[in-house]
Amino acid sequence: MEPRTFRICVLPGDGIGPEIMAEAIAVLTALGESEGVAFETAEALFGGVAIDATGSPMPTATLDAALAADAVLLAAVGGPKWDTTDPDKPRPEQGLLGMRKELGLFANLRPVRVFAPLADASSLKPEVLEGVDMLIVRELTGGLYFGERARQTGVTGAAEGGGPGRRAYDTMDYREFEIARIARVAFEAARGRQGRLHSVDKANVLESSRLWREVVHEVARDYPDVEVIDQLVDNTAMQLVRRPAQFDVIVTENMFGDILSDEASMLTGSLGMLASASLGEGTALYEPSHGSAPDIAGQGVANPLAMLLSVELMLRHSLDMHGAADRLAAAIAGVLEDGFRTRDIAGEDTAADRMVGTAEMGDLVRLRL
Ligand code: IPM
Ligand code: MG
Repeated sequence: MEPRTFRICVLPGDGIGPEIMAEAIAVLTALGESEGVAFETAEALFGGVAIDATGSPMPTATLDAALAADAVLLAAVGGPKWDTTDPDKPRPEQGLLGMRKELGLFANLRPVRVFAPLADASSLKPEVLEGVDMLIVRELTGGLYFGERARQTGVTGAAEGGGPGRRAYDTMDYREFEIARIARVAFEAARGRQGRLHSVDKANVLESSRLWREVVHEVARDYPDVEVIDQLVDNTAMQLVRRPAQFDVIVTENMFGDILSDEASMLTGSLGMLASASLGEGTALYEPSHGSAPDIAGQGVANPLAMLLSVELMLRHSLDMHGAADRLAAAIAGVLEDGFRTRDIAGEDTAADRMVGTAEMGDLVRLRL
């Protein structure tokens, strides 16, 4: 019998991207062999490298490959080479936002799990981290990231109350259906977990947040088993470091979710430990929550675990391979229990022979599988 075949579109991108992606592919290949499944991986240009090669951060061929795949694995994009404030120049991040929009990936799931052996890698006290296990559900295709925006150069007229000088604006824009569908994703997730949902907004100031709150409570009627707590985003930022174990599922708009998830990643000890799944109607995309870390690119020291945890999410959400996902999660936990650390998660007591680089960390996980 032919083995089951999954087509994975692979986007290594920029910076540390290719290094951590190599580990993901090696782990995937090993898993495929033991599970009797074939992973057909097809690499495509994305981000800064795509700008260099084609002028566009998301070439049509890449988008087509992503649309045709069973799932997309993305490492990271961006770097100083392509940093610009010129609105007419292409930027790698536009590729990422374009991909999210084109694939309709409105729901971004970022699980924040504290691996017990890493409790001392966090900048917070271990007792604060006890019991932390949360899921951040970030709206991904609306809000400030995609609202009406403009940059006006030159002099603005007296009619607009303007004087000389440049002007720029972005708009936090949400429609009812966008809020309702992300709320449903969050309620469903909460139902399968501890049944507690924090809906995070800024309803004391923003109109879009007041609509957000209304719609979330309308959707809540279908989920009487889930407790909903409204929380203002500034308070959430504080609560995340004060008593993070209070959170089960957090649902919030795009920009708030971007900021809060970086903050929450430090509960795990490192941004290098936070994976994400971006889901929509069709092909889903899996990527670490961290960026391309150009400062350490090419040195072989980047932590590949967020990338590998993203593979775990792909096995669960797109490929229905829960056994393999469990094995991968256990292998990662095991390697950490054995004391192995990349630089970002090393502590003062990390033994010299337990300090590893990107490839070694990937190998250790693969051997455990
Ligand atoms: C993330 C990143 C992206 C975002 C950037 C790279 C555009 O920070 O995935 O959190 O802001 O969404
Ligand atoms: Mg971010």
